[in-house]
Parts: sequence; C-alpha cells; structure tokens
Amino acid sequence: MEHIKWAKRQIHWLGEYYCYRYGKEPKCRHFEECNSCPLLNLTYSRQIKLKEKLLELLFEKKIEIVKSKLLYRYRNKAEFSFIDGVLGFRKKNEKYKSFPVKECFLVPKIFASIARFLQDEFYKLGFESWDVIKHKGFLAYVVMRYSFAEKSTMVNFVTHGKKHKKELSEIAKVLNKKFGVESVNWIVNESYRDEARGVLYKSWYNFYITEILNGIKYKITPQAFFQTNPKTAELLFKDLLKFVDKNKDVADLYCGIGAISLLAAKKAKKVVGIELEKENVKAAKENAKINKIKNVEFLEGDAYKMFKDIGEEFDTVIVDPPRAGLSKKLVKRINNLGTEKVIYVSCNPFSLAQNLEWFSSAYNIKFIKGYDFYPHTPHLECLVVLEK
Ligand SMILES: C[S@@+](CC[C@H](N)C(=O)[O-])C[C@H]1O[C@@H](n2cnc3c(N)ncnc32)[C@H](O)[C@@H]1O
Repeated sequence: MEHIKWAKRQIHWLGEYYCYRYGKEPKCRHFEECNSCPLLNLTYSRQIKLKEKLLELLFEKKIEIVKSKLLYRYRNKAEFSFIDGVLGFRKKNEKYKSFPVKECFLVPKIFASIARFLQDEFYKLGFESWDVIKHKGFLAYVVMRYSFAEKSTMVNFVTHGKKHKKELSEIAKVLNKKFGVESVNWIVNESYRDEARGVLYKSWYNFYITEILNGIKYKITPQAFFQTNPKTAELLFKDLLKFVDKNKDVADLYCGIGAISLLAAKKAKKVVGIELEKENVKAAKENAKINKIKNVEFLEGDAYKMFKDIGEEFDTVIVDPPRAGLSKKLVKRINNLGTEKVIYVSCNPFSLAQNLEWFSSAYNIKFIKGYDFYPHTPHLECLVVLEK
C-alpha cells in the first residue's frame, strides 16, 4: 500500500512538472476553468510517456500502452450541470458552479450546440436550477449520449419533481426536429444526492440508442453503463477475447449491459454475467436476444454475494469493477476457489495494483497492457490476465 501511495505522489508531481516544463498553448478556450482535461496542453506522446511512467512506478516494469483510436471527440457521454441558471460543466476548484460550454474537444460537436439551445430555452421558460445545498429547485442535469455506429444522440433531463411537463415535451419535439435527437428521456432524482441518476419517468421517441462494437449490437438505455471511448474499447475487447478459452465456463462480474459477456460467449461454452443495476441487467438480456446469443445468462445482484455461492462453476472469471476495484473478500474467494484464469479489466491503475498484490498469493501475471481510453486526462484503462 505504501508503494502505491508513493507512486501516486510521484506521478502527481511528475504530471505537474511536465505541464510546467513542456506545456503548450492548450487547444481549448475552457482549459483554465475546466477540470476535464488537465493534460490537454501536453503533446499526446508526452501524455503517453507520463502514463507509461505511472505503470512502471506501480508495476516495476515497462508496460505497453495502446493509444486511443481517436485523439479528440472520442467520448460518447457528457453530463452538463444546471447551477444558478447556467447549463455547463463544473468549474475547476468550485464544485457548485458551472460554466457555459462553447466547445469541448472530447465529445461530439452536437453536444455543445444542444447545450446552447437548451440554455436559451431554460432561461426563456424560467426553469429553476436544483440547489444542491438547500435542496430546492427543479432541473439538476442534462446528460447527453451518442452512438458512433448510428450517429444518433440521446438527451436526458434529470430533475427533482415532475413539473413543466408541457414545456419539456415541447423541447423534446424541437430537439428531435432541429437536432435529429432520436431519444429524449426524463429522469426524476427522488433523493437529495447530487447525482445525474434517478427513476425514468418519461421518454419521447426511442428510449435507447444502439452502438456496435466488434460486430455486436448494444442497446444503450438512458442510465445504462457503457464504455465511454467505444472505438478504443473495441481494441481492448479484441485482446481480451484471445484469452477466453473455447468450451470453458466463464463468469463476467460487473457486466453492465453485457459488453464483455456477449463477446466472450462467442468462444466460451457458457457465460454468466453478474450486475448490480436492474436497468443494466434488463438491457443485457435484451442485447443477448437481439444478437441471438443463447449461451449467456444474466443475474442481478452484488458481485461478491452472488459469486460466493456459485463461484465453483467457472473455469475463468472476468472482472471489470468500478474505480474502487475489488473488495478483499472477493479476491480471497477467487483465490480459494482454484479458478484457472482471472481476466481483469480496470479503469484505475491504483486500485488494480492493490488488487494484484492480493491476487499474488494464488496467481501470476500472464499479460498486462494499458489502453488509453481517456486522452488528455490522467485516467487509464488496463487489461490483466492472471493464471495459476
Ligand atoms: C466499469 S463498469 C463495467 C461494465 C461492463 N463490463 C462493460 O464493459 O460495459 C462496472 C459495472 O459494475 C456495476 N456494479 C457496481 N457495483 C457492483 C456490485 N457490487 N456488484 C455487481 N455489479 C456492480 C456497475 O453498475 C457497472 O455496470
């Protein structure tokens, strides 16, 4: 653990030094006020060097990083906050303030155009912003999603309460006619938590968009998890598939809408996906149907709780947890089971390093590679294969 904390400090310091020493005029006018791309003023090769250094500090060897297929406009999702009447991204160092987004080089161009249109509409209609401190108001977020395969857009309003029904219906119509938006949804956050989630209340037009990765179609519903850099995710998934053995039983923990499960099912005898969120499980089952994939099953529940009872059934376990990584008890359970192979997809090299320490009593690292899903940001995706 001390080693990981040390690596975190070193890389933070090195990142600041690189930006100071080699930083160029950033491409984006919002660079100073926005937190999204702190590395944007470095050349891409310098960003990759920094991420390679991070992996070297954490894993004590040189590890290859696959570059992002797209350098700009690679993201398929953005969350715009509506704070004090301003629809935009959160300000750097001022969590409860937003700034209007004139441009963003990470997301499709259409997002900024839609945000500008919505800002004017909300102002004209006098929509109140949700006040995260006083817990008063109405509109909190607008979430936009995009499919590269269909070139289709989804817009989700996240509100507290259900007023302004007529006005939102009118806005949905204009989004469809003027911007070609295929899916508009209204999500009501029934809690006081500051998050762009809640209960789906209403949909206009389709309530999903469809993305295609490695020939598999995925229906993406308003709140479903989906990889945010699909073009580079395809590269990681192709590498992952090489490690799925024919005629073996595979568990895919934290499976989302089945992105990895459906791919693994092409080679495995059977795949069982486990996922906590109901909406993801529903979409995963639907995705199996539309792709006519029969040797896959999806279970709803907590990965550890479900897996501890059925773990013996599998030869291979795939895990793709949220940023916090795996719990010690889940790693212990996998270590004790004698599973032949663990395939680990990680969006956080620090929690990955911690988890690999726990796995080291039972497994050796057979393969490890980085994939730059997040150019201009400090984040990095990794694929690791562990064998007995
Ligand atoms: C990083 S995503 C991976 C999704 C999927 N593998 C993919 O590539 O699209 C992590 C997923 O874990 C789910 N999740 C979070 N906590 C969980 C838990 N305790 N048990 C099962 N799934 C969980 C989230 O809802 C999310 O869909």
